[in-house]
Amino acid sequence: ENNIKENISWHNTEISKIDRQKLLGQKSCVLWFTGLSGSGKSTISSKVDEKLHNLGVSTYLLDGDNVRHGLNKDLGFGGKDRMENIRRIGEVAKLFVDSGIVVLTAFISPYVDDREKVKNLLGENEFIEIYTKCSLKACEMRDPKGLYKKARNGEIAEFTGISSPYEVPVNPDITIDTENMSVEECSEVVINFIRKGGYVE
Ligand code: PPS
Repeated sequence: ENNIKENISWHNTEISKIDRQKLLGQKSCVLWFTGLSGSGKSTISSKVDEKLHNLGVSTYLLDGDNVRHGLNKDLGFGGKDRMENIRRIGEVAKLFVDSGIVVLTAFISPYVDDREKVKNLLGENEFIEIYTKCSLKACEMRDPKGLYKKARNGEIAEFTGISSPYEVPVNPDITIDTENMSVEECSEVVINFIRKGGYVE
């Protein structure tokens, strides 16, 4: 592995991130949604994706279940695999940001440490942490995929919130209370943040 690293050097491209952002007329960043299963990450992020797209913003949405069917299909739900899952998504998100695009990610990303690493990889201004806040009780009541029921019956090991931890964000950029607010209201909170931050022209 060391040999490989020795023989690889970073290649600087002629066209920079700034050039690509200029062409698109936008600042790129990652809107990183984190929260329990069933807390609304997919629903809200896809609504925000749609709204941004309609405002003329070039976006791309990376969603948990989809990425786990492709790029990360070799990974499970143990601590190490979740860490690797988030590391790879962070690297992919960085590539998209470099291309000038506004990326939305919807992964449980249960560990503070792993989210912190992605934040450091991208830089403070390009990583916007969005906590989809919803009590375990409400998520369990929603149970859109019937997974909580299975987890309670012992049919799924290491299920987040039941038999695997979820570490609540310490200082998220945005908290959306999906238990008490509509999808429309939640998505508007994110859109307003993006507007104020000057990410959209
Ligand atoms: S993580 O923790 O960030 O690596 O998880 P993520 O890639 O977002 O995948 C979460 C979705 O996988 C399904 N699923 C599980 N979630 C949590 N724990 C266990 N053990 C598990 N097994 C399968 C579940 O459908 C999650 O989807 P969401 O959209 O979060 O409900």
